[in-house]
Amino acid sequence: MKKRKLKPWVVIAGILMVLILSLDRIEVFIKENTIPNYRELNKIGYNDDQIEIINEHGLEELSEILVEEYQEDIVEILTVPHYATLKGIGYSKTDLETILLADESILAKLEGYAFLNQWKTYLAEPMYRLILDTGYSEAAADVLLGLSDETIKDIVSHGYDAKYEGLVTSELTILGDLPTYLTYWKKVPSATLRVVQERVNTETDRSYYTGITASETSKGNLILVNKYFNLSSQFVPSALTTITVCGKAVMTKEAALALSMMCQAMIADGLHPKVTSSYRSYATQNTLYNRYVANDGKAEADTYSARPGHSEHQTGLAVDIITSTSSLSTFKNTKEYQWLMENAEDYGFILRYAESKQTITGYISEPWHWRYVGIETAKDFNTKNMTFDEYYRIYLQ
Ligand code: DAL
Ligand code: ZN
Repeated sequence: MKKRKLKPWVVIAGILMVLILSLDRIEVFIKENTIPNYRELNKIGYNDDQIEIINEHGLEELSEILVEEYQEDIVEILTVPHYATLKGIGYSKTDLETILLADESILAKLEGYAFLNQWKTYLAEPMYRLILDTGYSEAAADVLLGLSDETIKDIVSHGYDAKYEGLVTSELTILGDLPTYLTYWKKVPSATLRVVQERVNTETDRSYYTGITASETSKGNLILVNKYFNLSSQFVPSALTTITVCGKAVMTKEAALALSMMCQAMIADGLHPKVTSSYRSYATQNTLYNRYVANDGKAEADTYSARPGHSEHQTGLAVDIITSTSSLSTFKNTKEYQWLMENAEDYGFILRYAESKQTITGYISEPWHWRYVGIETAKDFNTKNMTFDEYYRIYLQ
């Protein structure tokens, strides 16, 4: 067989190919032997530029990178301030593109937090930053951000305590009053959240008959009159109506009708309700109060009688009910009282001065004093276990 001779150009091409291939190998070989960590880093997937940057950094950072998987943003991780920490916190590469545009001081603070869901708000809103930097959670900050800058500044000036979180997020907190709750809580640190709320919501964080406000008479059946909210000496309810179903009672037309139906129902149940007092004018209350003061002294009188302008009886919505055979002091033990406790709400009446709430209402227990608020409110009120003073501030004001 004739031996075929290779054509010279094939031989040259072959040699060239081998040369080119080995040049590549040779280059890699040289890099592996001259550039530190080249083999490991290249194996993970880093390119020459990335390897160069990696090598510019200390061994500590390097050893961490060597055991990790390939990171496409290794250059940013190593060269952009805050990038690595913020990425470690959980921000994505896309998030970081925006986040890193923020001021240095903001970034430095952001590094101190766990992942913020609302990091955009943190970057954009100085007030949000102020709240979070004070210690409040994002949930609390969401609520507080709805307040005026002035109120927010007042709130954060009280510093932070973990117990304030519950105060801020509770539905029984009147947000605009937050500085007042905080002031009270500092004054009485042992108070529970509920007590702090109850005190501030009812104004009883301060002395009775201080900081008096005019009652909002446009609230109609829902008007609040107590030791902090009063009626002028001129105030007379409209459409006063007299009924005589259970003794003479004078109330607003709606309240009088409701009382009339309630008394009829009680009588139908074999009971004997008796009205002892209903509408009282400012002048009448004035006379009564002064007489009590003359008899018992002011301090004592204040525990059972309203000062003129501060009595619910002036609204035409309050009625004192006992029975023909009981007195004020024994009424609590009667069937009539029991009946009222169970059924008065169906006629729109609530017990106004409960035994358990004396420190709030400022009055001794008055089982006989019933206040008309309308059926819907009476029923809702009875589910809350609070005084009408507090109920009004939270749900009606
Ligand atoms: N006894 C009630 C509090 C009043 O004087 O109105
Ligand atoms: Zn009364």
